[in-house]
Amino acid sequence: VTAEQLQHYPPPIADGFRALAASIHGVEAQQVIATNGGDELLRLAVSTFVEPGQAVGVLEPSYSLYRVLADLNQSPAVRVPLAEDWSCPADAARTFNEARAKLVFVTNPHAPSGRLTPVVQLSALAGELDALVVVDEAYVDFVDPDLGHDAVPLVSNHENVLILRTLSKGYSLAGLRFGYGIGAPGIIEPMLTKTRDSYNVGVVGQRLAVAALESRDRAAQTWEAVRRERTRLREALAQLGLDTPPSQSNFLLATVPDWAGHARTLCDALEDRGVLVRHFDQGCLRDKLRITVGTPTDTDRLLGELKTCIAAASPIGAPPEPS
Ligand SMILES: Cc1ncc(COP(=O)(O)O)c(C=O)c1O
Repeated sequence: VTAEQLQHYPPPIADGFRALAASIHGVEAQQVIATNGGDELLRLAVSTFVEPGQAVGVLEPSYSLYRVLADLNQSPAVRVPLAEDWSCPADAARTFNEARAKLVFVTNPHAPSGRLTPVVQLSALAGELDALVVVDEAYVDFVDPDLGHDAVPLVSNHENVLILRTLSKGYSLAGLRFGYGIGAPGIIEPMLTKTRDSYNVGVVGQRLAVAALESRDRAAQTWEAVRRERTRLREALAQLGLDTPPSQSNFLLATVPDWAGHARTLCDALEDRGVLVRHFDQGCLRDKLRITVGTPTDTDRLLGELKTCIAAASPIGAPPEPS
């Protein structure tokens, strides 16, 4: 980026980035909108398509911003709890339709469990719902390529699907604030022309985002390393007695058994030892820890500290023998 380019306003709709993202995903440029992080796309979706007072559907637990955005829009949030295996319950669409939800958020892979909903199920859900379905694919880059998962073709068959992508997770560029949406032109156009700030992504961001997507083969090596480490961490956690559902994301959601102490206590003890994991003080997440997959060294460090903390919490340091 030259000094002269910085003196001028950026390309207003990031056309270079749009064209590149469109060609990568096999869609038209008018089916892509560039945003200031995925968060801006979520906000634009709500403020463009949901009138104040109209409902927003949320599968819980999930990304906390969904409900914040609903509140800001003065929209009641219709909350449907996920099933025990983190799948979408069969009657969710009916509940959302009965509440006349105008927009429904679906996180895929789900956060914080990492569960992946297959495209056929997303397609069925989109077909049943009277709402715009925002498929939040913030973590999709970590999905095992052997699964052949690609939700983008949904936008050609379903006028009510908007897919969120971000460079924050898979490209480790959270500081850049760059995300994008993919959807039917009829969904993208009102956000581009009505609700978006005129210059929502700067010239530096646009250039770096193009460079990031152009070198996605390099990023893909990291995704593969995360998947390898995810498998190793999952097995090691199971050996320690901490079960995790299969994850297609860059984190695992570990259940802390009673004999190993309270999840919150374990989280604090790990933090005291310089290891950061996440505890959510809500409902079915209270006995769980979200553990981000790091480098092999991070994994070894985490496992070592976890063993120490569990041993301190339970003097026997192992699951009690069945009596
Ligand atoms: C599920 C989910 N969606 C979207 C985002 C938004 O990310 P960003 O605004 O950095 O692109 C996040 C960030 O944590 C997330 O966890």
